[in-house]
Amino acid sequence: MVVELSASHPGFADPVYRERRNAIARLALDYQPGTPIPAAEYTEQEHAVWAMVTRELAVKHQKYATAEYLAGAARLGLPQDRIPQLEEVSELLEPLTGFRYRPAAGLVPLREFYGVLADGFFYSTQYVRHHSVPFYTPEPDVIHEVIGHANALAHPRYAALYRLAGQAARRVEGEQALEFVSKVFWFTMEFGVMAEGHELKAYGAGILSSYGEIEEFRGMDIRPLDLAAMGATEYDITKYQDVLFRAESLQHLEDVVGGFWDSCDDDAVARLLATGV
Ligand code: TRP
Ligand code: FE
Repeated sequence: MVVELSASHPGFADPVYRERRNAIARLALDYQPGTPIPAAEYTEQEHAVWAMVTRELAVKHQKYATAEYLAGAARLGLPQDRIPQLEEVSELLEPLTGFRYRPAAGLVPLREFYGVLADGFFYSTQYVRHHSVPFYTPEPDVIHEVIGHANALAHPRYAALYRLAGQAARRVEGEQALEFVSKVFWFTMEFGVMAEGHELKAYGAGILSSYGEIEEFRGMDIRPLDLAAMGATEYDITKYQDVLFRAESLQHLEDVVGGFWDSCDDDAVARLLATGV
């Protein structure tokens, strides 16, 4: 199924964009796991969006990204002037941390999306955001998946956290517990921030792929890293995130969130939901 665009998407009223997006999404529907990911034939305009966003983000990452994210990006060595194919991303990433990309047509069911992280697979869209609003897009695109996530997945400590999230998603049985695991992922690997010296840095892929949002996160409502509070916090996926959770260090994130994913079950989640603020 190809997901329909909402009226708030900048490409909503652009029939050429919608057709492109759907054509690229269709590649994923025909994909057979274990075979190479079909290449998307990107247009010059699409490559130019990638190049522009990469240039803008490179400067902002120096200022706002964690040391481990920057180390991951340096190890991975993504192309700057053109969109890499997902197969190429897999080939860069696999020798570093064992992760490979898998094409997704749009939203993947939670159990599947998170579950395969345990096996070192990352589901990714292949289409690109609309050229008119390059600094932020309301749905994940290849820029978010690759610049936001692959650079993090290239660092062994972040890659280990993604794997633990996958193991947690496989372990829990109820839908409520699965949603809780996914919410913790949202507030950490997607929108997490972390103290580094006296500064606040971002390691969440959703912040690190938007050169609009990355300029705003330090002014948001920053709360202590707390699993029960994450479970009780609502979010709107179509806007800049205004509630963020701060880890005091990577070790702190590993202890609290990694430790939770490593051992949580339906009962542990039920207890956290009961204490939620
Ligand atoms: N806003 C992100 C960007 O501009 C992309 C994005 C949309 C996203 N929806 C998301 C990221 C949900 C994480 C979670 O790059
Ligand atoms: Fe994401």
